[in-house]
Amino acid sequence: MLRSQLLRRVVRADGAPHCKAKENALDAQELQSQIDRVPFWYHAIELPGGITTPGISPGPLKDFYDLPKDMTGKRVLDVGAFDGYWTFECLRRGADSVLAIDDGSDLLKAENMAGMEIRVEDRSETVVPWEGFDLCKHALGYNDQQCERKTLSLYDVSPDTVGQFDVVLLFGVLYHLRWPMYGLDRAASVCCSEMYLESACVDYFSPYDGLHPLVDMPRMEFYAGKQYGGNPTNWWVPTSRCITEMLVACDFKPISRCTLNPAEQPDMKIKQLLGFSRCFITAKRRTQ
Ligand SMILES: C[S@@+](CC[C@H](N)C(=O)[O-])C[C@H]1O[C@@H](n2cnc3c(N)ncnc32)[C@H](O)[C@@H]1O
Repeated sequence: MLRSQLLRRVVRADGAPHCKAKENALDAQELQSQIDRVPFWYHAIELPGGITTPGISPGPLKDFYDLPKDMTGKRVLDVGAFDGYWTFECLRRGADSVLAIDDGSDLLKAENMAGMEIRVEDRSETVVPWEGFDLCKHALGYNDQQCERKTLSLYDVSPDTVGQFDVVLLFGVLYHLRWPMYGLDRAASVCCSEMYLESACVDYFSPYDGLHPLVDMPRMEFYAGKQYGGNPTNWWVPTSRCITEMLVACDFKPISRCTLNPAEQPDMKIKQLLGFSRCFITAKRRTQ
């Protein structure tokens, strides 16, 4: 139901013009029922009226992401945007515009929506369900100039297809890539200034050899099946050191690197969200 139709109903039911409080309450109710109709949420996104979408990410991990508090005037590319938490976060921090791309290749969403296990080889075509993203964009009041989304693979990103960006976000994407170095090259090709990465990593744990002390070597492990986190679209999991070396090879200078080791986290919720271990890396284009 359209918002305007909804408001008309209030006027008719009361026989008097609605007051602002009633309008907001009704909007909140309608927003909540729209959220409930989306079959799967990955992100917990704060919307007007004190409503938050029921996803798990980033939850208490949000403060570990090293994004600048002020992103005024920045043009941002959010790779693998999913429901758009980080797209909306950049806009909230003042970004001029964000292009959100996703190719739907993480089966998490597809599986949850279908309520069944889907095999990578069974998927005939990619469908990106953007309804959660669109709902939040609308609820937060962003227009198409500020916030655009495209079904596009990182592999097809180039200055010709998407243009250039001040900031590129690569959160939760690298280990989903069959060709990680190529993916990073594509991201680098459109990034004039800063790249922010977050990734699963094998710094302290590997499904192959369990818990181990920090591995500060440029290594990457391959998972042909579901060995890493039970997700068949987790292909290559690097060490954080490996990501920094890959960035150097793309002509970027790593500025900061931090790995969260679940074994050292007292908070159970953080432990669970981290899985094996996650790293956060910031890099700047070297030629600046
Ligand atoms: C774990 S989720 C991360 C979502 C979000 N970036 C975050 O960190 O909260 C990974 C997302 O990346 C997308 N993805 C994986 N490979 C991709 C590719 N080659 N091009 C574009 N998106 C991709 C998946 O479809 C999924 O939505």
